[in-house]
Amino acid sequence: MKNFIIAIDGPAGSGKSTVSKEIAKILKIDYLDTGAMYRAITLKCLENNVDITDEDKVIEACRLSKVDFVNNSIYLDDRCVDEEIRENIISSNVSNIAKIQGVREILVKRQREIGLDKSVVLDGRDIGTCVFPNAKYKFYINASPEVRGKRRFDELFLKGAEVSLEEIIEDVKRRDYIDMTREASPLKKAEDAIEIDSSNMSVTEVANFIVSHITRRRCPPPLNKV
Ligand code: CDP
Repeated sequence: MKNFIIAIDGPAGSGKSTVSKEIAKILKIDYLDTGAMYRAITLKCLENNVDITDEDKVIEACRLSKVDFVNNSIYLDDRCVDEEIRENIISSNVSNIAKIQGVREILVKRQREIGLDKSVVLDGRDIGTCVFPNAKYKFYINASPEVRGKRRFDELFLKGAEVSLEEIIEDVKRRDYIDMTREASPLKKAEDAIEIDSSNMSVTEVANFIVSHITRRRCPPPLNKV
């Protein structure tokens, strides 16, 4: 079977990562969480007291970082940081790191290398518009800010974080604003992406919708014989 790329973009909390993992499992292909890479660089900067308002220093920290995936876990300089990158302090700062053009160039290059010569589902903000503009399948998953904030709140609540729903909804809106208005490959739907409003859909429903769209196009039904 020929290799293909599935690009899944959308705003914070739209369910992209969970849906993408599900799709990768069903289709038995790799999954790449590009947001985790921006989060790892944010962690690196915060842990090393890099002034995140100084773009050159952040780019340098990014250039000197080793970001890898092993069995779907993310490693920063050979340390697994799956837990640390999900903390609220990282979510609050990541968009200011991700808007830096030099950081994006380094990470996008790495994402293209990882996606080379294999079938991969990638989720992020710029996959269909910038990382893989020729991706065979493109989807843009959306949902209202209230629904997205509630999903994020439930995740954090289960982990015991002390946050309020209002605070999380505001944080999601603020992050969307930075992601959508930045100069370097802002978050937007690729013209040829299929938009899915997941406000009233479960993860399984969204994943099944995408998988059935892909398999229908890959294996068209036999022509009716007259
Ligand atoms: O999971 P959630 O939607 O909260 O975010 P994420 O996918 O982990 O991405 C975290 C942040 O990284 C986003 O808010 C963007 O600022 C940035 N990002 C990006 O700029 N480009 C990507 N391809 C992926 C993430």
